[in-house]
Amino acid sequence: MKVLVTGGLGFIGSHVVVELQDRGHEVIIIDDLSNSSIRVVDQIESITGKTPVFEQLDLRDKNAVFSFFKNHPDIHNVIHFAASKAVGESVQHPLDYYENNITSLVYLLQNLKERDAKFIFSSSCTVYGQADELPVSESAPVKPAESPYGNTKQIGEEIIADLCKVTPGFNAIALRYFNPIGSHSSAKIGELPLGTPQNLVPFITQTAIGLREQLSIFGNDYDTIDGTAVRDYIHVVDLAQAHVVALERLATGKNEHNMEVFNIGTGKGSSVMEVVKTFEEVSGQPLNYKIVDRRAGDITAAYAQTDRANHVLGWKAKLSLKEALASAWKWEQYVRSDAFKG
Ligand code: UD1
Repeated sequence: MKVLVTGGLGFIGSHVVVELQDRGHEVIIIDDLSNSSIRVVDQIESITGKTPVFEQLDLRDKNAVFSFFKNHPDIHNVIHFAASKAVGESVQHPLDYYENNITSLVYLLQNLKERDAKFIFSSSCTVYGQADELPVSESAPVKPAESPYGNTKQIGEEIIADLCKVTPGFNAIALRYFNPIGSHSSAKIGELPLGTPQNLVPFITQTAIGLREQLSIFGNDYDTIDGTAVRDYIHVVDLAQAHVVALERLATGKNEHNMEVFNIGTGKGSSVMEVVKTFEEVSGQPLNYKIVDRRAGDITAAYAQTDRANHVLGWKAKLSLKEALASAWKWEQYVRSDAFKG
């Protein structure tokens, strides 16, 4: 299949491109390079032996988006990652988030609705907020969003679902990710946050390598196994494979013209302290950390019920927390080495 991957040079996007190419699919990447590097194209090539087609494109530019699709009448399969994802920043700059995550999505869909397109949307477990029951299943209610970022995921799902209802031939799946971490086993692609990382694992690896002095653990008074908050950390390679399987499902016409939703997680919750201890074990690096107050907006616990993905998609996470943290550490060491800095 020919597959367009928007945001294909980013953390998750680049891993999906590798999995697609490894499965023999032909990939076109568009990316505005706002939070990614052109070097990732070469890195992908060195892993897969195939160079993906790349075009720099800002999806907020309506004319550019329409002319891109005019030039590519053969694009029918799209995996859409291009979006902003920093929760705190979205609170400060809500309109930027609605423009970048929603306006762009609308332009994209305007071009896809008459093509019998197959569309995978990158959504988030953030739509559940603090779920009433854990593990949380896809039928759990969507809670009011805590941030404009979270709201863009909810609104995005609604827009796509509305389009599916009235557009036979346009089929879509939203994948609700839990917490993606880790990197490809080659350590040639991975997560490269701009500035200070907001997410736990890049903060841990940057502390271990000496870029950050100390990890702050946000709260140890939660009602959990050890008082620290619990999340479902999923290896990005497992997550990437879920996209390929989901797209292949759409290509076989197995869904019923309604948007389908799948949780993509391991089904297992790990506390922040468990992540820290596991990282210390796999890296051999003692981590400098301290306990501080809770972070505003954080929930106590989230982990996925994955039965739907297991049975309907035939997908299951295979890699462990240890493997994910070891790969994240390998990537951090590579990024700070002369080999990467060139
Ligand atoms: C956040 C977003 C989520 C988004 C995801 C992207 C919120 C409420 N949710 O998830 O929508 O999809 O990032 O990956 O912001 N922690 C520390 N110290 C740190 C950083 C994090 O203790 O320096 C803790 C957090 O309090 C949390 C856990 O580690 O308990 C995971 O945090 P993080 O990686 O930021 O992910 P989420 O907040 O779960």
